[in-house]
Amino acid sequence: MLGRRAAKGKLAHGLILRLGRRKAKERAAQVYLREETEADQREVEALYDLCFAPGREALSSYRLREGVGRVRELCLVAHDDLGILGGAIRFWPVTVAGQTVLLLGPIAVHPTRQGEGLGGYLMIDSLDRARAKGWERVLLVGDAPYYQRFGFRKLNGVQMPPPTNPDRVLGLALKDGAWTGIHGPVQRTDRG
Ligand SMILES: CC(C)(COP(=O)(O)OP(=O)(O)OC[C@H]1O[C@@H](n2cnc3c(N)ncnc32)[C@H](O)[C@@H]1OP(=O)(O)O)[C@@H](O)C(=O)NCCC(=O)NCCS
Repeated sequence: MLGRRAAKGKLAHGLILRLGRRKAKERAAQVYLREETEADQREVEALYDLCFAPGREALSSYRLREGVGRVRELCLVAHDDLGILGGAIRFWPVTVAGQTVLLLGPIAVHPTRQGEGLGGYLMIDSLDRARAKGWERVLLVGDAPYYQRFGFRKLNGVQMPPPTNPDRVLGLALKDGAWTGIHGPVQRTDRG
């Protein structure tokens, strides 16, 4: 049973997510989300190259993705009504303590479209799809001030391959208690 304070916090959090979801969809009007296909791949890579520092693939999180298939039903692209790519999000499966976890990222929005709610739309829509598909927990490496609005919190006791700042290792439970008792290094998985 949740205490009164925790229950109130949970209700408030649910309300913030519902409002955030509505706001993101309104702000990102005229933007269409769909699953990424093979034909989108080069354009998505170019967007990531533009939005991230050179050498992004040297990051330790890329070692977890090498040779592993993406979770295709959750990798989304956002186009405007002229068909111009505005943003993209990808997911990979990884393993922590023998449990399957979704690794969120990269996510990027074209610099000319940032601050319009597109990032929020991609986050909320893909996380809704993940929940609907039965995924239980999500992990990412990123800035807590951005991701906490989607419910992500610092994950204690879960280690990304070094060098990763532990304060940037964030998790979200898509099912109550899904991260409880799950500790250890993040490892590559064979699922794909
Ligand atoms: C991070 C990113 C995906 C957000 O997409 P976006 O479409 O601009 O985001 P939204 O419009 O949904 O949200 C904008 C809000 O997020 C805030 N925000 C964006 N990046 C942030 C960050 N790194 N830390 C804290 N807040 C951030 C903005 O200040 C803005 O705040 P406001 O709503 O109070 O005005 C986009 O800025 C981007 O592609 N950045 C470069 C690549 C990157 O850093 N990817 C994330 C890797 S961890």
